[in-house]
Amino acid sequence: MEVLLRVKNLDVSYRGAGPSRHHAVQQVSFEIGEGEVLGLMGESGCGKTSMALALLGLLSEEQADVSGSIQFRGEELLSKERSSLRAIRGAGISLVFQEPELALSPVMKIRDQVAEVIHAHNDCKWERCRADAELALARVGFSDVRRISSAYPHQLSGGQRQRVVLAQALACKPALLIADEPAASLDARSQCEILALLRELQRELQISILLISHAPEVQASLADRLMVMANGRIVERGPFEQLYRNPSHACTRAMLRTAAPASVAADMDFEMVT
Ligand SMILES: Nc1ncnc2c1ncn2[C@@H]1O[C@H](COP(=O)(O)OP(=O)(O)OP(=O)(O)O)[C@@H](O)[C@H]1O
Ligand SMILES: [Mg+2]
Repeated sequence: MEVLLRVKNLDVSYRGAGPSRHHAVQQVSFEIGEGEVLGLMGESGCGKTSMALALLGLLSEEQADVSGSIQFRGEELLSKERSSLRAIRGAGISLVFQEPELALSPVMKIRDQVAEVIHAHNDCKWERCRADAELALARVGFSDVRRISSAYPHQLSGGQRQRVVLAQALACKPALLIADEPAASLDARSQCEILALLRELQRELQISILLISHAPEVQASLADRLMVMANGRIVERGPFEQLYRNPSHACTRAMLRTAAPASVAADMDFEMVT
């Protein structure tokens, strides 16, 4: 498997108001292969979102110091200018956040919001971008694309909004999707639907995913490998099954204990040791 993203000794240190700093990500190293789903699990505040933002170059110099190395397809991203990072964002690497509301403008129709992303990365006419936006919406499972296209975000359900954000993120066919708690704001049924959709799209498009979720059942259903983060560091890594059967770090044990055994077992296709 070819390595798509190689991260070495990544550090994120937030600047406080005074001389104080918060070292949110510390010496994190990992690789993601082409077509691989790598899970990142960790308790609230351990640094997961900070790492995702750093990978995408979304932390400003005023906000935080980011150091180490982030290579995407062999190219170092940390030394790149903001403008070339913007070109990679969306087309090479894209992001889905927990809160779809933050990614969508309340005053723009859905089709135009997806079309804007396509327009930003492709040299094509607006009408063509709008037509491609409808295709992108159909790909994430909307059967009534016409109605959804001309709706505003507030006219959709939370699950539908998250689908739109996924359509936006996948519209330019990125090689890597960073999904930060993609289902956490949804009810159980919509959560299942979004996860099934992610799994289907990952197989169909052969994209790599960095799946950030504190929920073991989410990781069990999608991740090929799992990393566990605590206090900004990766404390354990391996296939989900191995970590589930034999967790070596207290943090992994604590997180896996909260898993609903039946749903994890159903997703993992192996018998639980109780
Ligand atoms: N802009 C910021 N300035 C200063 N500190 C920050 C900033 N953003 C996050 N932090 C701090 O960095 C730490 C890691 O936060 P982060 O959002 O990365 O955690 P997380 O693992 O994503 O948590 P959650 O599961 O709740 O989303 C926290 O202690 C947080 O308070
Ligand atoms: Mg977070």
